[in-house]
Amino acid sequence: MSNRLTLNPHFRSNTFTFGVATSSFQIEGAAASREESIWDRFCQQPGKILDGSNGKVACDHVNRWQEDLEIIASLNVDAYRFSVSWPRIIRANGSINQAGLDFYIALLDKLNAKGIKAYVTLYHWDLPQYLEDEGGWLNRDTAFAFAQYVEVIVKAFGDRVYSYATLNEPFCSAYLGYEVGVHAPGKAKKEYGKKAIHHLLLAHGLAMKELRAHAPAAQSGIVLNFTPFYPASPSEEDARATELAHIHFNDWYIRPIVEGRYPALIEDIPQSHRPDIQPGDLELIAQPIDYLGVNYYTRARIKCDAPNDPVHLPPPESSEQTAMGWEVYPRGLSDLLLQLHRDFTLPPIIITENGLASDDHLVNGEIDDQQRIRYLQDHLDAVAVAMDQGVNITGYFVWSLLDNFEWALGYEKRFGIVYVDYETQKRTLKNSALALAATLLSRQQ
Ligand code: NOJ
Repeated sequence: MSNRLTLNPHFRSNTFTFGVATSSFQIEGAAASREESIWDRFCQQPGKILDGSNGKVACDHVNRWQEDLEIIASLNVDAYRFSVSWPRIIRANGSINQAGLDFYIALLDKLNAKGIKAYVTLYHWDLPQYLEDEGGWLNRDTAFAFAQYVEVIVKAFGDRVYSYATLNEPFCSAYLGYEVGVHAPGKAKKEYGKKAIHHLLLAHGLAMKELRAHAPAAQSGIVLNFTPFYPASPSEEDARATELAHIHFNDWYIRPIVEGRYPALIEDIPQSHRPDIQPGDLELIAQPIDYLGVNYYTRARIKCDAPNDPVHLPPPESSEQTAMGWEVYPRGLSDLLLQLHRDFTLPPIIITENGLASDDHLVNGEIDDQQRIRYLQDHLDAVAVAMDQGVNITGYFVWSLLDNFEWALGYEKRFGIVYVDYETQKRTLKNSALALAATLLSRQQ
């Protein structure tokens, strides 16, 4: 049992940033004061969300943000990462919702007053439904609409923001949303995934231009999720399948950003599945970024079923798993960071998300989430291993500040270091939050 984290010397420097993270649709609620998003529409479709829930109230953060900010401050973190809801800012008729902007500006002002750096994500999956009605991320125009929205944001937020991320996990938007359909908007065609990702990456590139023009002092980049893949056996077939999974699920998203090209495998996919790449697109996508955000949760093991067919295996039976059924595999994080460092010339890396869902219960006013404390400790240690070997990592954000709407799995999966009672909206710090707060306090002293 531990109620403390042990910080490796790498993390004691005040140039290393510790933070907590959330996203708009997952916590905000107050759906009536904004436009409909693709997630509102998706939640209405029977069977799409495991517990039949939606984001109408969520953690009621729009009404409780001041209390949430006090909680963040009490954690002694350096930074807070949150996202802006596009449908809260731009109305279907193109006009700007000033009340939406004012909500975020008040939040930013309070963060700044408390000396907490604001890490703002511009797109964390809640596309306005009116844009989906025009084809969403399958429509190239959506990338340009995103740039216009970003321009509105950066001009309104001024110098209040320390760091921007254009997109969060575009893999999930493109692959889960358009290729397999388990996320909003729930489209499911093999040929859609790579078309959607190209428009998302184009949106990233166009947004970077806006950020450079209107927020030159901000640290700007993108947040990608990565899964390190491991072959299920030493066979050549499994090695090849593992490599294929790596190309399709990791490389496809980072290579265009860092090197301005898609993996060579693009030549082998059917013409009808290929994105519409126009002259100048890849140059836009590959503009320099100030940091790369890396989200890490687990690894995957790969087996070859048929040639060119990587199959994800379930976690080994003996392994420790989270409430998501994900294997706890901290070594995957060091392996991943070292592999990225080997394969690419990268800007500094920030771990923008890491954490786990656990089956937390409030007992006598306490939530003793020992598994989370261990998970955070072991993953921080894994980050330190990569830093020891020369990887430049400058920050670590816990996912998540609050229990929240875990997308297609609804409210049953609790990722927060703060427990939310959805009946009363009462927040209670779990022991992991207390451990983090105490550890970060000792670091300040
Ligand atoms: C990544 C996503 O960015 C976040 O929204 C989600 O809740 C976590 N993974 C956990 O699945």
